[in-house]
Amino acid sequence: MQESTTSKARDYSVRHCGPDDVPSVITVNTVTLPEHYSDYFYYDILKDFPSTFLLAEQGGKVVGYIMCRIEYGLSMTKRFGLAKKGHIISIAVLEQYRSTGIGTALIKEALEEIRKASGKECYLEVRTTNKGAIVLYEKLGFKVSSTLHGYYKDGESAYTMATSL
Ligand SMILES: CC(C)(COP(=O)(O)OP(=O)(O)OC[C@H]1O[C@@H](n2cnc3c(N)ncnc32)[C@H](O)[C@@H]1OP(=O)(O)O)[C@@H](O)C(=O)NCCC(=O)NCCS
Repeated sequence: MQESTTSKARDYSVRHCGPDDVPSVITVNTVTLPEHYSDYFYYDILKDFPSTFLLAEQGGKVVGYIMCRIEYGLSMTKRFGLAKKGHIISIAVLEQYRSTGIGTALIKEALEEIRKASGKECYLEVRTTNKGAIVLYEKLGFKVSSTLHGYYKDGESAYTMATSL
């Protein structure tokens, strides 16, 4: 899997994350998101769900990542029933590399990997104030399925958004 694009000034590729890439992923997370995790958490997710842990590289530098779990539980897109579903735990792109399609490419590739793992839907949590990310998810077919009041440590609420695959 090697997705790449070229625009006037941008040229990136998307590939699977390896153990050696984790420190760079942690750096991207630290400077872009308020939600941080222990180093072990990243390595555990990579060990358990390697196919859906992806990164974007530009000029040899890790500029974005997405990490997901594959879960089995209540469907978020149908009223009843159970489903195998992908859960986007975290996605981020360094600020200076945004709005060039990297976030879209990371999500599309992760959805493809979830599909390959027989996942029938995908969901995520997003801050209700994170309008940019919400627009991006909506463009990719996600719809708000519920509101989690006071979900984040700082008291802010989250939407869960889900899409069928
Ligand atoms: C959300 C995020 C990953 C998007 O990455 P990106 O590489 O900029 O995404 P794309 O370039 O693929 O954006 C695709 C579309 O999403 C929408 N979008 C993305 N960011 C947006 C913003 N800040 N404001 C409004 N729309 C936005 C736009 O419609 C955009 O299309 P356009 O560039 O043609 O206008 C990135 O902004 C980010 O890392 N944010 C900080 C971390 C974060 O909030 N992660 C999500 C937590 S749930």
